Amino acid sequence: TERTLSIIKPDATKRNLTGAINKKFEDAGLRIVAQKRIRLTEEQAGRFYDVHRERPFFGELTEFMASGPVVVQVLEGEGAIAKNREVMGATNPSDAAEGTIRAEFAESVGENSVHGSDAPETAKEEIAFFFSGLEIVG
Ligand code: GTP
Ligand code: MG
Repeated sequence: TERTLSIIKPDATKRNLTGAINKKFEDAGLRIVAQKRIRLTEEQAGRFYDVHRERPFFGELTEFMASGPVVVQVLEGEGAIAKNREVMGATNPSDAAEGTIRAEFAESVGENSVHGSDAPETAKEEIAFFFSGLEIVG
């Protein structure tokens, strides 16, 4: 089975949607094998999103990710990376398929409620960014 890193973003924690989003993951067969609520600094958000450093929205993105609590979590399951991205829906909520988290909950392309790793290599890096092995209980 595969693992992926998920983040419930500040727009969603602010609106008390952690449970509703976790239900979507669990209903899709993903298991939450690690989870914690934390507050990122802009510097930490910048390190996490380092690949986007040269993008025009980088400052907006890191400021947003540091604007409130986030819930970081490890999801586990068969094909967890692809399954999680399917449940999240397209980056821009106006392109997201009906029933996906972003279609139901996201406010805009920036404040889009969730993050999910996009490949096995990034999943591994992103999980290690937030969690030690002892914190993940499969
Ligand atoms: P993630 O799972 O969060 O990585 O989303 P993604 O893979 O669907 O999108 P991408 O990696 O292209 O962008 C990463 C994040 O940057 C998005 O989830 C958005 O929060 C943010 N982002 C992307 N495009 C824009 C934009 O045009 N404006 C703003 N403000 N933020 C953006
Ligand atoms: Mg991405």
